[in-house]
Amino acid sequence: MPAPKITAESIRAMKARGEKIPALTAYDFPMARLLDEVGIPLLLVGDSLGMVVLGYPDTTRVTMADMEHHVRAAARAKPRALVAADMPYGCYDTMESAVANAKRLILAGAEAVKAEGGREILPQVQAIISSGIPFLGHLGMLPQHVLEEGGYHVKGKNEPEHQALLADADALVKAGAFAIVLELVTPRVAKELTQRLPVPTIGIGAGPDCDGQILVTPDLLGMLPWYSLKHVKPKLNAAEQMRAVVKEWKESVEA
Ligand code: KIV
Repeated sequence: MPAPKITAESIRAMKARGEKIPALTAYDFPMARLLDEVGIPLLLVGDSLGMVVLGYPDTTRVTMADMEHHVRAAARAKPRALVAADMPYGCYDTMESAVANAKRLILAGAEAVKAEGGREILPQVQAIISSGIPFLGHLGMLPQHVLEEGGYHVKGKNEPEHQALLADADALVKAGAFAIVLELVTPRVAKELTQRLPVPTIGIGAGPDCDGQILVTPDLLGMLPWYSLKHVKPKLNAAEQMRAVVKEWKESVEA
């Protein structure tokens, strides 16, 4: 019998069983299928696709149409994994737009949505969850705020940020988030949140003590050699290997 489909509830239950949660981004059919075949339980069609697939300088230009296009492609892999999708910048400013756009992502094939923020987007989060859509939180460094913040800064270094993270996480849990991504949160605060919250924390650049870890897959595979990140050391030099194979093939054609 095939293993049962992974749901938001299954991801939540992994924490109670003490199981770690490996999560990765997938933006298309082959990547979703490959990651699913390896048994990654949570696939995120992240708005990071704006940077790693579409070539934008940050995630703020990603549209609902971009997200729907990539969610459809990833969902066609019919993975056993839970497919979560990012709500793009400016698409959840009101309760009405949040629910309408979350539904569009579900219709495209997502099984959960993620949006960035805590108490400042709580009415939108409550409205999404009340409409029956599983919600994945995202706290810490919020890439959709990179222009206001002037860069990607680690969060939780001072007491006001620490307290804000605790209050935001508590609010998301109370609203019904099934897990929370912690991006660039100090390892000390990420550990405290992991011990405090009943739902899984999934860290990215937030130290080793979260319940799960998520990475942008092209960063893990070394597909983007034009920048390097502190929190991820590529495990493969895919860009170099692709260049070498293509060069060899090009030369064989030219010869
Ligand atoms: O967009 C994305 O890929 C994300 C991950 C970095 C968590 O939000």
